[in-house]
Amino acid sequence: MQLDLFADNNTENVSAGDSVTCDDGVNTADSVFRQEILALRKELEEQNYKYYVMSAPTMSDREFDEKMHRLEALERRYPDMFDPQSPTQRVGSDIEKNEGKISDVRNTKNFEQVAHKYPMLSLANTYSEEEIRDWLERVYKGLDGKRDVEIVCELKFDGLSISLWYESGKLTKALTRGDGVRGDNVIDNIRTIGNVPQEVSAENAVNTFEIRGEVLLPWENFERLNREREAAEEPLFANPRNAASGTLKLLDSEQVSKRGLWAYLYYVLGENLPCYTHYDRLQWAKKLGFNISEHIRVCRSVDEVMAYIHYWDEARRALPVATDGVVLKVNNLRQQEELGYTAKSPRWAIAYKFEAEKQLTRLNSVSYQVGRTGAVTPVANLEPVQLSGTVVKRATLNNEDFISSLDLHVGDYVWVEKGGEIIPKITAVEVTKRAANASPVEFVRVCPECGTPLVREEGEAAWYCPNDSGCPPQKKGKMEHFVSRKAMNIDGLGAETIDLLYSRGLIKDVADIYDLRREQIAALPGLGEKSADKMLAGIEASKAVPWARVLFAIGIRFVGETTAKQIARRYLSVDMLRETTEEELQTVEDVGVEIARSVVSFFDKEENNVIVERLRAAGVTLSNSEDTENNAMQKQTLQGQTIVISGTFSQHSRDEYKDIIERLGGKNSGSVSAKTTFILAGDNMGPAKLEKAEKLGVKIMGEEEFLQMINNED
Ligand code: IVH
Repeated sequence: MQLDLFADNNTENVSAGDSVTCDDGVNTADSVFRQEILALRKELEEQNYKYYVMSAPTMSDREFDEKMHRLEALERRYPDMFDPQSPTQRVGSDIEKNEGKISDVRNTKNFEQVAHKYPMLSLANTYSEEEIRDWLERVYKGLDGKRDVEIVCELKFDGLSISLWYESGKLTKALTRGDGVRGDNVIDNIRTIGNVPQEVSAENAVNTFEIRGEVLLPWENFERLNREREAAEEPLFANPRNAASGTLKLLDSEQVSKRGLWAYLYYVLGENLPCYTHYDRLQWAKKLGFNISEHIRVCRSVDEVMAYIHYWDEARRALPVATDGVVLKVNNLRQQEELGYTAKSPRWAIAYKFEAEKQLTRLNSVSYQVGRTGAVTPVANLEPVQLSGTVVKRATLNNEDFISSLDLHVGDYVWVEKGGEIIPKITAVEVTKRAANASPVEFVRVCPECGTPLVREEGEAAWYCPNDSGCPPQKKGKMEHFVSRKAMNIDGLGAETIDLLYSRGLIKDVADIYDLRREQIAALPGLGEKSADKMLAGIEASKAVPWARVLFAIGIRFVGETTAKQIARRYLSVDMLRETTEEELQTVEDVGVEIARSVVSFFDKEENNVIVERLRAAGVTLSNSEDTENNAMQKQTLQGQTIVISGTFSQHSRDEYKDIIERLGGKNSGSVSAKTTFILAGDNMGPAKLEKAEKLGVKIMGEEEFLQMINNED
């Protein structure tokens, strides 16, 4: 039985899979759809988190929108399942949930959260001209059938939205969208953007207003940033949007200023503002010094709107910043008011998203990569094809389910797309071109690196190689992680050198690093005595790395940087940790069942304990010193204090000061506010912070004074 549940007023054709065949009629289908609603909500919620908080989405915008449309349609069909928390009812949130599970968002915490004066909504998205026409018809209908309505066409900039508050002419707040109701105040970072005025002298005495726009990283700066990250062996940003979003949430404004963000403004709000159309308001803002796009046009017919879309679909490739569509807005502000809003977006505006460029090419074979964690990722080897300016030879296939959902066969002709990601994606198979004798792609069952049978745990999408102590990429990956900056921070020992040392049999696990001898290193190709000395100095220095970071460095699954800190605060030495139970571990903040189980099973393995003992023998720090123990256990000297770090320091690095503050129970914050207890100021403190501190009467403490204070407290 084919259930076409949405034949009435919906354009989406919703059916579970292709069709639902069931014995007991609609009830089974009902429960399938109801379950799908729950599953879609969960999936979209997770994607929102990855997109807005992690700046690292794993789904293309288009796929996200399609799933959202399907969820909307299903929810319309099952109104009894209405939930105000559903992603259809809320805009995605960029406020971190602070679950402590993901280690590299540490820098994104501690911004002051501020309520928006007007909710910060998003826009309804469309992908077809037909939907644009439908929207226009709805607009005309909403304006009592009036058809000579002006539509402003603008480029849709692909960055992240920002709301700037000007009070008495001065920039006073810069809020991210957050959850639409409250956002993070990232004003210090926004002040680093050259084309955002710090102050405006408004005409007509209007100098208190809000202006919204998009923060972006121009292509050129994005590419430079990724080149630098590549050289520093840091993960690359997938696209300028993610890079801009990651940048805006850094706590260190000096770092932000080096990255070179831009802003385009596109929406002015406030009381008693001049002008009665959206277009005129933008021109007014332009005169005040805001960066308003020069490509805005007022259109008077659907044909003009379509011509604008067609022109920019092509011409956008020459723009210095990323755009992903066109935004259409009713120009007249009274008409905007008449049309009003839905729970999530204005009815007077809509976004048209450009199609990602795609090409048809042949799938020659599938290979499998084993990552540091043992996860096996299938990769498509393609007949090389030109796509968005680069030659594409490979595409990710994500996991086994993705391959099955495409019903992929070797030799298939497939559509490849470059969406927001660097790595192209296969989006569909051209089944008509399949050879009669083509065989389906069968996911490997043994590790391509070490031959161990793979495992796939319930609820997980990936197959894993369980041989974590013997599988080469996992072993090398563990060592790379161990020496990395946020772990043991061993200077002069990067991925390439580890590869070399491993292939020569000089290191097999992390403890071997401490047995390396000068002559062994110096004899390696491309290294020599100088490199050997540098590396050995780095290895020596790593012995003083605090216990919390060593715990992070030894690479226990699920134990990220933040979790390691929490655990090390409770368990003051590796010996205490080794003795604990899963139940006890779960009483530590941020530690759930999965993490607790992972820690306990790590210490259940003899080989891990052997490594730990060898690290101890080498002199690596495996406990907090007496002093720090006292601090951790009793003297939370900075308990309840919020501290802002600014400038450069001579005794410790900024990261070290952040650690010290956290260890002593204090809270780091990126921006000065009334809540700031004091500013720990080094040389060249940012002028904006200084000004704000003076205004609010916040104490500024020098490095020496700070060190004396915490030492006296000891
Ligand atoms: S207007 C209430 N105009 O796209 C209307 N938004 O998908 C506010 N965006 O949240 C938005 N370029 O972050 C508008 N020219 C433009 C835009 C634009 C990019 C972003 C913005 C918005 C999102 C919606």
